[in-house]
Amino acid sequence: MLRALRRQSNWLKTKVNPSALSSGGFILDKLEKDGFEHNLLFAKLTDGSISCLSSVCSHRPVVMEKAQRHEDELRCHCHGAIFDIESGAVRCAPALKPLQKYKIRMNNDSIEVDLDQLIPQYTEHSASSSENVVIIGGGAAGAAAAESLASSGVTVNVLSKEAAAGPYDRTLISKRFAEVPLTKELHKNISYLSSTEVLSIDPKAKTIRIKRILPDPNKVGCGRKAKEYDSYHKMNLCSS
Ligand code: FES
Repeated sequence: MLRALRRQSNWLKTKVNPSALSSGGFILDKLEKDGFEHNLLFAKLTDGSISCLSSVCSHRPVVMEKAQRHEDELRCHCHGAIFDIESGAVRCAPALKPLQKYKIRMNNDSIEVDLDQLIPQYTEHSASSSENVVIIGGGAAGAAAAESLASSGVTVNVLSKEAAAGPYDRTLISKRFAEVPLTKELHKNISYLSSTEVLSIDPKAKTIRIKRILPDPNKVGCGRKAKEYDSYHKMNLCSS
């Protein structure tokens, strides 16, 4: 009896009006429990049911208040990750983890959420820790893939054409934030090669040909020319 009462008290009432939910949009709300704020996203599905997901993008801790919904997909406004609006599963990088899904119930005309009843999410892990992979591109998607693989023990080589010393964030929010560094410290399993252009890929031989563009140390000032170095690297390929 006591246990039943305790379970009952876990349901928290939201401010979301179910009749305001349309099958083309979503509504955000916040709930507080045990001193923590939970950001939630409510969406009406095509079968009339309601889904409740975390509104914080799993790529970076950003509340997706400006996300766009297209049918059963939710697109984060920051770097364009796409999630399934019913299950929270990732449909398109740079996010690699699903959005947390919560259990809800209708109580008269209001929606209640149990923040303790988390619906388990499926995440695919296919890389093995003995692998050594190359990721071409040091933007948000490349950085997210590198972080995820490196934390599973995989050795990752990120090749970027940009001169920035680490993964950069060419965010879609504003040009003011163009190419700000994504992180100051890279995972120990990640090596990052900037100013590197991939010229060709031979998937059969698992070989890539790269060109490095480095400043000529003998010339300084605004007329300084970049020096190009051609070199061959043999690595396993992660993406092209
Ligand atoms: S913060 Fe959402 S895709 Fe990057």
